Amino acid sequence: MADCDLSTSYLGLDLRNPIVVGANPLTATLDGVVRCAEAGAGAVVLKSLFEEEIRIEADAVDAALSQEGDWHSEVYDYLQAGLGMRYAPRQYLELIAAARQAVDIPVIASINCTSPEIWPEFAAEVAAAGASALELNIALFPENAQENSGLLEQRIVDIVAAATKAVQIPVAAKIAYSFAALPNLVLRLRQAGAKGCVLFNRLYRPTIHPESLKVVMGDCFSAPSESALAIRWIAVLSGCVDIDFAAATGFHGGTHAVRAILAGANAVQTVSALHREGIGQIGVILDEIRAWMGRKGYASLADFRGLVNQARTPDAPLFTRLQYMKRLAGA
Ligand SMILES: Cc1cc2nc3c(=O)[nH]c(=O)nc-3n(C[C@H](O)[C@H](O)[C@H](O)COP(=O)(O)O)c2cc1C
Repeated sequence: MADCDLSTSYLGLDLRNPIVVGANPLTATLDGVVRCAEAGAGAVVLKSLFEEEIRIEADAVDAALSQEGDWHSEVYDYLQAGLGMRYAPRQYLELIAAARQAVDIPVIASINCTSPEIWPEFAAEVAAAGASALELNIALFPENAQENSGLLEQRIVDIVAAATKAVQIPVAAKIAYSFAALPNLVLRLRQAGAKGCVLFNRLYRPTIHPESLKVVMGDCFSAPSESALAIRWIAVLSGCVDIDFAAATGFHGGTHAVRAILAGANAVQTVSALHREGIGQIGVILDEIRAWMGRKGYASLADFRGLVNQARTPDAPLFTRLQYMKRLAGA
């Protein structure tokens, strides 16, 4: 196997290699995090804590406060002043601290949020617990015709701004792909202080069972063909917005990872492949990257990162072309 330097920089963190285990149940326990590190991961993203979980904990404190009439007034003021967040999910903070002790790779915490409220205080505790960075999983669903895209995008920017105000550690935004003007949104996320963008989140995919007529869950694991979306958009964006990119969704093997790095990705997140093939797939992906680099004569990732992005390849128009013109016309 070729002796290659796979190290990379993502969110200002030094990673021994670009393969990051994305947020999922494997990273919800200390044992899982250790196994990912032992299998060779460059970093891990812990399974997300949901804003709702933080809110419920905060509300539980509020409810307790409203029931107890005999608090010492100082204690009451103290708790009312937002310090209710101290009762927020302890386990998550404990997992962060324990994981940082146990592994020598970056441990990225993740919060799933839909508003810029309540959780930023908890985010500060996440940083204090030792998280290397914070990833925000921001998935907003436009539920009615009155919610316009401008308002939803502004909410995403406000969420990132709230996080970067609350913590000193680097913040990454994990977003979905369906935006009319993605480059502008990513630029605004950068301006709001995000150090990185995870492209893309894979949203829950309900479908309809034709016999029972019930709404049922689609496949929760991706297919490798889904990686094309992130590759295209990272190729378009990496030459025009100065922010780090992690490719996500559909990255099951070394070839997919190589494509993402050629497009300009700093890191590549993988989840479904580890559930389908086992955690050992991390090593397989790394070996495949090394083998490709050996064949191509590249000694380090820096030698080819972004080599085929929109700013550098003569094929750039193919990334932005929207329609098939000739393929099926027999031309
Ligand atoms: C069972 C399962 C649980 C997941 N939980 C989270 C989560 O808590 N937070 C999050 O941001 N993404 C979560 N994801 C999404 C993954 O992090 C990842 O973005 C998605 O699976 C696409 O990557 P893949 O194609 O490599 O699977 C989850 C995915 C799966 C399959």
